[in-house]
Amino acid sequence: MEIGIIGTGKLAHKLAFAINALPHATLKIICGRSASKAKRILESGNPTYIDKIGEIPKLDLLIISVSDDSIREVSQQINASTETLVVHTSGIKDIDILGAHANRGILYPLYSFFDKKKQVLKEVPFLLEANNAVLLGKLKLFAEAISNKVYEVNPVNKKQLHLAAVFANNFSNFMMTTAHDILSQEGIDKEILLPIIKQSCMNWIKGEAVNNQSGPALRGDTKTQEVHIHKLTSKDQKDIYESISKAIHNYYK
Ligand SMILES: NC(=O)c1ccc[n+]([C@@H]2O[C@H](COP(=O)([O-])OP(=O)(O)OC[C@H]3O[C@@H](n4cnc5c(N)ncnc54)[C@H](OP(=O)(O)O)[C@@H]3O)[C@@H](O)[C@H]2O)c1
Repeated sequence: MEIGIIGTGKLAHKLAFAINALPHATLKIICGRSASKAKRILESGNPTYIDKIGEIPKLDLLIISVSDDSIREVSQQINASTETLVVHTSGIKDIDILGAHANRGILYPLYSFFDKKKQVLKEVPFLLEANNAVLLGKLKLFAEAISNKVYEVNPVNKKQLHLAAVFANNFSNFMMTTAHDILSQEGIDKEILLPIIKQSCMNWIKGEAVNNQSGPALRGDTKTQEVHIHKLTSKDQKDIYESISKAIHNYYK
């Protein structure tokens, strides 16, 4: 299977390294706006670097891994052969954004990638869509070679999963950053929060998060909440505290 990737960002790197490790697939093309951004991919395998999307040759699979807002524009520049399966990697964009291509699909990893280092993707869930069953089968074969967790989804489920992941990962990660910042103001080592953070993850894994809520918002301890809000230093932190406390109170009342 001959594969190309458009994009030289975080996910493009992860996918390129994973494809390079496959015995029955070859990363033939890396297409990006700057060769220096593809340097590590080019060094780790043997793909050809192209900077003009319109010059990408015939491939079995072409993965568009660019910013969500550029997918349509990039897709329109591809002169893909009718046999090429063109996919994007976004959790929020629909398959029809690739409308010009007869064979189209989505290869969305439900995970957070924040660097360009090599990473084993075996435990990363990959959510797939394609515009017909044959293409879905082809995409599934490819995805199963790089991950043990491959799922066929519909557009509604995919967006719902993307939304849930924003809460489970992006928001919770930012909450932990905020907790860290609050401790840093008093020079307290963040390690002391490790048991309570582990407890939150274990509650979720055991399916008990909903039954294991505690804290001043649940108890309705408004005086405690006032002390906390007073101690917070930024308006954003105060707004987050008030809005989440209100949501907890309303959820459990
Ligand atoms: N990172 C994640 O955790 C993650 C997880 C799942 C899915 N995804 C999806 O994967 C896709 C890429 O995300 P990412 O995190 O890898 O992004 P990223 O690291 O910010 O990289 C974005 C890439 O898009 C390229 N690009 C942007 N506009 C372009 C245009 N008009 N023409 C050509 N190239 C363009 C950028 O090129 P320049 O460097 O030249 O600007 C860069 O190579 C997105 O659809 C995202 O939703 C990401």
